[in-house]
Amino acid sequence: MTSYRQAKWFEPVIFEMGAKQRRGYTFTQLDKEIKDSLGSQLKCIPNKLRRNYLPDLPELSEVEIVRHYTKLSQMAFGVDLGSYPLGSCTMKYNPKLNEAVASSDNVRWIHPYQDESTVQGALEIMYKLSRQLAEITGMYAVSLQPAAGSHGEFAGSLIIRACHRFRRNSNKDEMLVPDSAHGTNPASAAMAGFKVIVVPSGADGCINVDALKNAVSAKTAGLMLTNPNTLGIFEKNILEISDLIHEVDAILYYDGANLNGILGKAKPRDMGFDIVHINIHKTFSTPHGGGGPGAGPIGVTKELEPFLPIPRILCEEGAYRLDYNRPNSIGKLRSFYGSFDILVRAYSYILMMGAKGLETSTEIAVLNANYLATKISVIRGFELPYDANKLRKHEFVVSCSKLKKETGITAKQVAKRLMDYGIHPPTIYFPLIIDEALMIEPTETESLEELDRLVTIFAQISTESYENPKTVRDAPHNTSIRQLDEAKAAHPRMLRLSWKMHKNRSKHDS
Ligand SMILES: Cc1ncc(COP(=O)(O)O)c(C=O)c1O
Repeated sequence: MTSYRQAKWFEPVIFEMGAKQRRGYTFTQLDKEIKDSLGSQLKCIPNKLRRNYLPDLPELSEVEIVRHYTKLSQMAFGVDLGSYPLGSCTMKYNPKLNEAVASSDNVRWIHPYQDESTVQGALEIMYKLSRQLAEITGMYAVSLQPAAGSHGEFAGSLIIRACHRFRRNSNKDEMLVPDSAHGTNPASAAMAGFKVIVVPSGADGCINVDALKNAVSAKTAGLMLTNPNTLGIFEKNILEISDLIHEVDAILYYDGANLNGILGKAKPRDMGFDIVHINIHKTFSTPHGGGGPGAGPIGVTKELEPFLPIPRILCEEGAYRLDYNRPNSIGKLRSFYGSFDILVRAYSYILMMGAKGLETSTEIAVLNANYLATKISVIRGFELPYDANKLRKHEFVVSCSKLKKETGITAKQVAKRLMDYGIHPPTIYFPLIIDEALMIEPTETESLEELDRLVTIFAQISTESYENPKTVRDAPHNTSIRQLDEAKAAHPRMLRLSWKMHKNRSKHDS
């Protein structure tokens, strides 16, 4: 059977479908009653405020709507469909139990403007989640407000700025960031007004401590570090690094995107970190949501707690309340209190797993990554740079540099060919310090059989690259949309994602 995926045609947008007067349901009697009752109510609305034309909405039958959205869902790839080894993004399976809890009436039907006394349960969930995250990271206090990891980084950078102002450290305007860092680190620091100083990595893939010593000065406000880093390697000199930073009264910031590799095993606070962010949508199995609405809570030491965003959720004599009276706070970062329904999912996940379960999830994530790294790095054309014998944590980065030299096939082409086999491409060309990078994170939720299938597919793509490179070069072949003109797709003036209503619905922007 040809699946919709293989039948390469474009689905029209819903405004191009249907026909005048077509209906999903018609309730003649009810329609009349509604019209009659509305009619009497409408009399109080002045004529000039009344719409004199019908809204330009699509008119479709039920079956058309069901088919349309079912087809669209088949054109997208999700973690419910197959492996999603997107390095650094931790696309682990999101248990359906989380969804059930988040869609219960008690969660869905409350409103952030309700009086505190009527939402004690919701405040309790957030308070308890913040305490769990504090325990997991070793931090004193946690704010759940930021909506993404990068938002957490921004919050953390603002806290570093506020803290130095408070300490009257007016000369501290430099933020150190390793060259293996995620791009959001320098961006967040720059947005908070810091000058970004890049610190190179050494031959072992860890931060070069000598280069760090040269970069650290009285002007250093902080260092943003990911551990395990984006190569999946644990920064073995972390305690020395922490001392170097603290000696100049600077702050050590933990990018917790890779918490999945140490969860339940090590705490960032014990490594000397003063601020952490946690990507809830990675480590705690909640939907990613395209850069938000996710959740990127931040945790801080006791000394930095006064700078956390407002409101803080406090528990006093068994009652929960929101505290806005915090003069040193960096202020409000987000409407209301964070992505509540995402936080509920994380709370459900943590309770479901328990402390032992979370630790086991890390063990399996690390085992899976090293199993794959060992198998893929011996396939012709793929290499594991930075000491192939060193164990990785929950992810690893292979280079397709040799494959490119010998066959002309690039990391991007391998990634596109993987889509033909129903595998979501790994992260590509990141971190920047590896040529032709494929950053792979299988996560703990994939089985041994699935990992072996992945290895077989990588071996198959290697063989194709050497024997029939055109197949790989022209990939993907089986997706509903083939190769995009990437320059055009990324061109900001050509990206038109909004629909423009036209009376006759004959033209559209797509
Ligand atoms: C190492 C690292 N830091 C920060 C981020 C930013 O997190 P978010 O996508 O939640 O904004 C990412 C995202 O993938 C990441 O991999």
